[in-house]
Amino acid sequence: MYFISCGPTITRQVRAFVLVFLIEAVACQIRYSVPEEMRKGSFVGNVAEDLGIDAKRLKSGGARIVSDDSSEYIRLDGDKGFLVVGERIDREQLCGQTSPCSLNFELIMTNPMQLHSVVVEVLDVNDNAPVFHEKEMHVEVVESALPGTEILQVSATDTDDDINALHGYTLHPTTHFNIKVLSSPNGHKYAQLYLSGALDREKEERLLLTLTAVDGGEPQRSGRLKITVNVRDTNDNAPVFAQSIFKASVKENVPKGTLVARISATDADEGMNGRVTYHFNRMPSNVAELFLLDENSGDLTVNGVIDYEEHKVYEIGVQAKDQGGQSTSTNVIIEVTDVNDNVPIITLTSFSNVIAEDSPSETTVAIINVKDLDSGKYGKVDCRVNGNIPFTIHSSLKNYYTLVTTGSLDRESNPEYNITFTAVDEGSPALSTNKTITLRISDVNDNAPVFEKSYYEANVMENNSPGLSVFSVKAHDSDSGQNARVSYLLIDAQLNGNAISTYISVNAESGIIHAIRSFDFEQIKTIIFLIKGQDGGSPSLSSNTTVKLNIQDQNDNPPQVLYPVQTGGSVVGEMVPRSADVGYLVSKVVAVDVDSGQNAWLSYKLQKATDRALFEVGLQNGEIRTIRQVTDKDPVNQKLTVIVEDNGQPSRSATVIVNVAVADSFSEVLSEFTDFKQDKEYNDNLTFYLVLALAVVSFLFITCLVVIISVKIYRWRQSRVLYHSNLPVIPYYPPRYSDTLGGTGTLQHVYNYEVCRTTDSRKSDCKFGRAGSQNVLIMDPTGTMQKIHRENSILDEPDSPLEVRHLMY
Ligand SMILES: *[C@@H]1O[C@H](CO)[C@@H](O)[C@H](O)[C@H]1NC(C)=O
Ligand SMILES: *[C@@H]1O[C@H](CO)[C@@H](O)[C@H](O)[C@H]1NC(C)=O
Ligand SMILES: *[C@@H]1O[C@H](CO)[C@@H](O)[C@H](O)[C@H]1NC(C)=O
Repeated sequence: MYFISCGPTITRQVRAFVLVFLIEAVACQIRYSVPEEMRKGSFVGNVAEDLGIDAKRLKSGGARIVSDDSSEYIRLDGDKGFLVVGERIDREQLCGQTSPCSLNFELIMTNPMQLHSVVVEVLDVNDNAPVFHEKEMHVEVVESALPGTEILQVSATDTDDDINALHGYTLHPTTHFNIKVLSSPNGHKYAQLYLSGALDREKEERLLLTLTAVDGGEPQRSGRLKITVNVRDTNDNAPVFAQSIFKASVKENVPKGTLVARISATDADEGMNGRVTYHFNRMPSNVAELFLLDENSGDLTVNGVIDYEEHKVYEIGVQAKDQGGQSTSTNVIIEVTDVNDNVPIITLTSFSNVIAEDSPSETTVAIINVKDLDSGKYGKVDCRVNGNIPFTIHSSLKNYYTLVTTGSLDRESNPEYNITFTAVDEGSPALSTNKTITLRISDVNDNAPVFEKSYYEANVMENNSPGLSVFSVKAHDSDSGQNARVSYLLIDAQLNGNAISTYISVNAESGIIHAIRSFDFEQIKTIIFLIKGQDGGSPSLSSNTTVKLNIQDQNDNPPQVLYPVQTGGSVVGEMVPRSADVGYLVSKVVAVDVDSGQNAWLSYKLQKATDRALFEVGLQNGEIRTIRQVTDKDPVNQKLTVIVEDNGQPSRSATVIVNVAVADSFSEVLSEFTDFKQDKEYNDNLTFYLVLALAVVSFLFITCLVVIISVKIYRWRQSRVLYHSNLPVIPYYPPRYSDTLGGTGTLQHVYNYEVCRTTDSRKSDCKFGRAGSQNVLIMDPTGTMQKIHRENSILDEPDSPLEVRHLMY
């Protein structure tokens, strides 16, 4: 396409035609237009034709193009007479922002000289995209920025012209940001980026935006800018606790440093705004030293002694702070769990430490109180008493126990008790406490004195000195003090008609028994009496013991010869016929010893004899026998001296002279006795007097006997009455003949001698007289019935006249 313009008033085409065609020599302007960026050689315009010049003319005229800057953008193809693109034309380079953009040059020919002005307008092509100054941008925005806040301004450039130039901007995404397209005073469009919605770093920390600039060309070209928005943190979040309330439990008495709870809070902010520290903010002052809170970790640990009994629950306020000044508080509730750490406590509420031994069962001894500071079953206490003792405890009120007796007490076997209470709680392991009390049992006079023996037997020699301490008894009383102080008393009784206290006495304190008088075995062989032991209690208790005192014989009596009777002047003799054989029993010496036993064992010996060879005396029986045949040479009168010895130590003896006449008739004896005639007369007189005296004495004796028997019978009648009143009947009997069956029995032996009377002394037969004997039952002071023989014999009174009558020739 081309235009020719030759005058200012004509349109370009018209002018070109007019110029070319109407004004030949005058320089005519011819115009073409060509898009930029055409290939080399591209057709621009048929200048020959347009100028109406023959191609040959151009050739011959040596047509050429002359430009001011001798640029080669447009070349002339002389052969064809065309204008072609000589090199690449970049409008933007050529003209910049100038518009329109044209190339001006002249076409010059010679022969004739012709000059034509050619203008080639370079047309714009959309060959440039909008371009941002940078490819990427980083911006920081505070998260707290308000919507509408401008963030930045940015613009792109598009060197193309006109419609191909920058047209507008778009942004993606537009969630938080948006743009406004504004124009500068010179018409350049730029984009203003502003905040359209609130930011939250905690949600989106970085935003990527793409800003696109577009031109208006066809096809449209665009340029991109990547914008990275870093959202800067502000402390817009307070710390948040993991739990709304913290609950923990801790056992009491745990060691220091034990972790109780871990408190944690989070803060969504970053950096210092998100760094949380923990602090106590609310707590009683006494709790402050019990727990420790680690500022950084939030570990709550024990720092003191946790005592359930003091506090069961702790409530602590904890604050979490970030470093930007925000904080939150929460509560920590710590429950303390009980541990069985308290032993039961036993307290004596009331206690009397002495109790009488006769206290009845169920007597209250003590009241105790038992406590345990622990709770629940650790504080539940069971109390009991240990050991096998007659006490038990009853639970009365809660925690109160009474200690009572369960049986009878005996001070004598258990003077005191150690009573141990054990209180045990129900923990596991259980804790226990012991408490021991000592209870003394006080004495009550409940024990009588007890003699060491219920029966004592002691011996004492007769002829003792009065006041001799014979023996002692001892009684023990197992009570104590005055209740155990024993006094000894002789229980009164009768012995041989005398009060027993006239024989012996007892020392009340010591229990030593004294003889009051000198005892004679021949009168009393045993004394049996009762001693009472009585304690000092009130009322007093007593017991008694029986003492049997055996009086022992001493050899204090010499033997007594009963036969032959030794009289002053009369001659008593035995006759031995001269025809007597060897072993003829001449006579028998009869003697007694009132002592007993050895002391009464008698032996007979021939001490002196007229003719020793004629007689012998039986050592044991006192029988005098011949030991050879009597001869006529033997003198009629034979005199034998027999000694009777007892076996005592020292022994006592008696001698007796036995006259023996060896003769066949009495007259022989008489004749032999003529020298004694005077004596005989004297004897006859004596005999008469003796018979007279005997008659008188017998009369007196019989009278006395009658009186005594009457009195006896009267008394016996009386005693029958008394017997019913339990008084012992003690009939009279001569002391010498009282002998108990339980005695030594030696008197029996003696007695045999006593009652043996030779009716015929020549014979050795011996009769035991029973005619006059009578059995008498008596009650002796010991209370035993005894049967004794009483003999109305000559032996009653060995020196009585009756005896004389019997024994005399
Ligand atoms: C009671 O205890 C005391 C002191 O421990 C001791 O001396 C005494 O012998 C004990 N008594 C009994 C009856 O065990
Ligand atoms: C209490 O006494 C009982 C029995 O005598 C014994 O087993 C226990 O160990 C004692 N307890 C204490 C705390 O002494
Ligand atoms: C002696 O003791 C016995 C038994 O203890 C008793 O029966 C008796 O009466 C007592 N005698 C006297 C005299 O006290």
